[in-house]
Amino acid sequence: MAGQKDRLVSYDPEGVFLPDHGIDPEDISALHSQLEAARSEVLRDQELWEQQGDIPEQKQPLDAGFFRLPERTLDAYREQRDQSELGRILRTAGSLREIVDRVVVLGIGGSYMGTRAIFEACCHPYHNELSRSERGSCPRLYFEGNNVDNDATQGLLDLLTAKEKTSGPENRWAMVVVSKSGGTLETAVAFRQFLRTLQNSSDAENLGPERLVIPITGAEGKLRDLSRALEFQEVFDIPDGVGGRFSVLTAVGLLPAAILGLDVVRLLEGARAMNEHFVAASPEENVVLRYVAVSHLLETKHGMNQRVLSCWSKALEAFGLWYDQLLAESLGKQEQGATPLTTVNTRDLHSRGQQHQQGRRDKVITNLIVDEVRCDPIPIGTSQHNQDGLNGLAEKGLPDIMDAAIRGTNRAYLEDQRPTADLHLPRLNEHTLGQMFQMMMLATVMEGRLIGINPYGQPGVEAYKKHMQAILRGEE
Ligand code: PA5
Repeated sequence: MAGQKDRLVSYDPEGVFLPDHGIDPEDISALHSQLEAARSEVLRDQELWEQQGDIPEQKQPLDAGFFRLPERTLDAYREQRDQSELGRILRTAGSLREIVDRVVVLGIGGSYMGTRAIFEACCHPYHNELSRSERGSCPRLYFEGNNVDNDATQGLLDLLTAKEKTSGPENRWAMVVVSKSGGTLETAVAFRQFLRTLQNSSDAENLGPERLVIPITGAEGKLRDLSRALEFQEVFDIPDGVGGRFSVLTAVGLLPAAILGLDVVRLLEGARAMNEHFVAASPEENVVLRYVAVSHLLETKHGMNQRVLSCWSKALEAFGLWYDQLLAESLGKQEQGATPLTTVNTRDLHSRGQQHQQGRRDKVITNLIVDEVRCDPIPIGTSQHNQDGLNGLAEKGLPDIMDAAIRGTNRAYLEDQRPTADLHLPRLNEHTLGQMFQMMMLATVMEGRLIGINPYGQPGVEAYKKHMQAILRGEE
């Protein structure tokens, strides 16, 4: 039996069963055979991909490699330890932690958003402000190469070069550069600029870019060629058949997570647990199938094509943004696909709450709720100055207020027939985050199969790249 720390996330759609503006439980039951067919297709896709044979035209591209990746990575680690991919990730992360105090992750879209989600969900909220010893000697983490913003780039370069140029890990930084294609302009430009800065920074111990730059890239491409030419000591692969936004559980997310001292095995175990659940649980109990069914039915029955992921923890905002990208790039094709939107509450109740309560009836709200906080509850406390009237609530802590806000908001939405479902994480840690990554990736590909959209690839993004390159080269 799964122990307390291994509990699965749960999904409660009670708040979408509404007489006029929601669905009935029977609607979900009526969809069961279609849901099972879509799940079978996802399983067949995985087998087809694994056989490495010819992929039929209508299935291309087929990036189904993400599905069993957690199992493959964990099995290889168990059998080959240090020699496995995960063994190498842990070794590289460990030695980097000893020699640097800052790590810059360069990448855009799927090449950085999952890492950011892991960082924000699992690390201290002010990780980068803590001293090296408070961080357990884990480096600070920064993100660039996800834009072409001159002043933001200069700001980070200032920070990296401001310190006294003495030797020692406190003053040294390293770079993880991530690009599957190796040709994304934003990341390539940042790489050239940050590499130049790194090459120019003197180091008494003579630690050069060969040790301080770690590329993560596809088998072929410009970044791979550069890595060969510059002879970086460690280069990690983004495997064929794993697309950018499905790559969080490859070295793309695992290496930075390990650099931050996080438990990457638990992250993978969480994802594996979700796979087991997805494959084995009946449609009545399957969180992936039920989540897909509710979202799909509200869209087809009522045209509710705005999906609000309402995060009741600041630490989950970057996860929400990762999911926004996953859903938008995977299903936003052929004039279809719901529009995702991440909110963080109670913060955004004061910016978006009005619209969600009384605006267009085009929204499905999914609350993402962490059941147990990490730190001791902070009480309101009593004060001699009770002008704010809070002494009557002195015993209540922030988790009590959060709980009242969640229940109060759900009640208000129910009164107005605004469909709302709850996704509960027993705690926020590597295991539950691994589950959530895998759940959302599976739900997205399953929904794609359900509505006849290939969830892989992003042909539409090529248009802006083509024009941008042509404009830059004076051809347009
Ligand atoms: O999901 C995707 O494939 C994209 O968002 C990519 O991750 C993004 O465009 C970056 O591509 P690359 O890793 O090739 O630089």
